Amino acid sequence: MNHHNPSSAAKAPAPSVSHPIDSDASGTTGAAPATLFGDLRDRFAFLKGFLGSPNGVASMVPSSHWLEQRVVRAAGLAQARCVIELGPGTGGTTRALLRAMPAQGRLLAIELNPGFHEHVRKVVRDPRLHVELGSAEDIGAFLAARRLPAADAVISGIPFSTMPFEVGDRIAQAVAQHLAPGGRFVAYQWAAAVAERTTPYLGAPHVQFEALNIPPMRVYTWTKAAA
Ligand SMILES: C[S@@+](CC[C@H](N)C(=O)[O-])C[C@H]1O[C@@H](n2cnc3c(N)ncnc32)[C@H](O)[C@@H]1O
Repeated sequence: MNHHNPSSAAKAPAPSVSHPIDSDASGTTGAAPATLFGDLRDRFAFLKGFLGSPNGVASMVPSSHWLEQRVVRAAGLAQARCVIELGPGTGGTTRALLRAMPAQGRLLAIELNPGFHEHVRKVVRDPRLHVELGSAEDIGAFLAARRLPAADAVISGIPFSTMPFEVGDRIAQAVAQHLAPGGRFVAYQWAAAVAERTTPYLGAPHVQFEALNIPPMRVYTWTKAAA
């Protein structure tokens, strides 16, 4: 897909599903928390990703454990069949989501940065997880390619404030379209841009604040109206 914008079209290929994950001895198994070595490796990879694309990543460090837990609670994943993560980064949030999901759930993680995409595929190995390279604008194409149902929850850490207005608008539209009735959209952001893009499609969000993160974050939650 070609959206003619600098944030996604230049980097994101047309949606196509990734190959099965290779075995890699350096990866953690499934949703297990990272080891000390894994944590340092992830932080180094995250900083490298930030230095390569400051606006696309928008943070020098991954989300804190406290923020991960607040996001997981807001998403309500205990019964989720299909969950989508936008911008898994180096996979810390991905592991936290997998730990909260049921055994039969599926997690579709969409990452724009090729280095992060490859990193998550290597270090987070879980049969419930599908990690795809591309833009969050293309949620619908990735769901269709994997034959996944509408999402019970969409979780986003992508920086709406540094992307062009039209890109953020398309992502908000795609999230609203591909959420199941009663499904939740949880977005953690410092800036309010995500709320400005999403409120036209999903109404006013519930807002929480997590101080124990660098930087502190607002956690916005929308619930799509039941059909
Ligand atoms: C602040 S980081 C969050 C990473 C991780 N989820 C965390 O909380 O530690 C934002 C992530 O969104 C990704 N991203 C930015 N724009 C995107 C887009 N249009 N589609 C998918 N991912 C995107 C970045 O590459 C980066 O991995």
